[in-house]
Amino acid sequence: MTATGAKPQGATDEASAARAVREMFDAIAPRYDLLNHVLSANVDRLWWRRAARRFRAVLANPDAAVLDICCGTGDMTMALLKRRPRGARPILAADFSLAMLSRGVKKFGVDARKAGGPYAVPLEADALHLPLESASLDLIVSAFGFRNLANYEAGLREFHRVLKPGGQLGILEFSEPGGLLGKAYAVYFRRVLPAIGRAICGKDGPYSYLPVSVGNFPAPEEMLGLMSAAGYEQCAWQPYTFGIAGLYTAVR
Ligand SMILES: C[S@@+](CC[C@H](N)C(=O)[O-])C[C@H]1O[C@@H](n2cnc3c(N)ncnc32)[C@H](O)[C@@H]1O
Repeated sequence: MTATGAKPQGATDEASAARAVREMFDAIAPRYDLLNHVLSANVDRLWWRRAARRFRAVLANPDAAVLDICCGTGDMTMALLKRRPRGARPILAADFSLAMLSRGVKKFGVDARKAGGPYAVPLEADALHLPLESASLDLIVSAFGFRNLANYEAGLREFHRVLKPGGQLGILEFSEPGGLLGKAYAVYFRRVLPAIGRAICGKDGPYSYLPVSVGNFPAPEEMLGLMSAAGYEQCAWQPYTFGIAGLYTAVR
């Protein structure tokens, strides 16, 4: 396949795809955390923690400039914050859905700051047009957000622009495992999951979109090719939980 970007139902171009994604997350924001934990049987917590552990060295540096892009309700941000020392520069937590972001702030923002621990600063922004200076970040992490971008190459290019030379990128995403397990998982992912999602959030769209978007997302080899083509080095993919998810890593 030729990678382009997310194509929610009814979207005709990149602008309408981005708008549909944002509206979808605005709509499911109140139920997002509950659904996430139910549908993944809490395995998502392990994935966020494991991804954060992969970047423990850079996170331990109090001066490191860190961006969690597509931070949503902030669980990846919280896992990153656990690895920040006291007094560390705040993490930037960015998302273009205000409803998702405002839920995240309650976890990683005001209260964390009041408690005197490491905290994050929310930023309402589109991943494809980051309001950040070029070569300004040491680490960009994105958990389950990259797949929703309207243009994957443009996203990788924008991350490359804002990373410092030597800066690191981590993209945690779902994938489709092969073999027998893959077949069994596909039944859960394509049939059971949308039905549970529909029952809990009362809407059909978002949880039917999830398996479709994962099916349309480039397979690891292709994604690694896109990363290399965008100028990254040391591109690698580490499968998590039999390849249901996995962490892409690269260095700018
Ligand atoms: C599945 S949620 C993941 C949230 C969180 N990172 C997590 O692991 O639970 C995807 C998030 O990506 C955000 N998103 C999608 N496309 C985006 C874009 N172009 N710019 C900024 N945020 C975007 C959505 O608004 C949503 O909050």
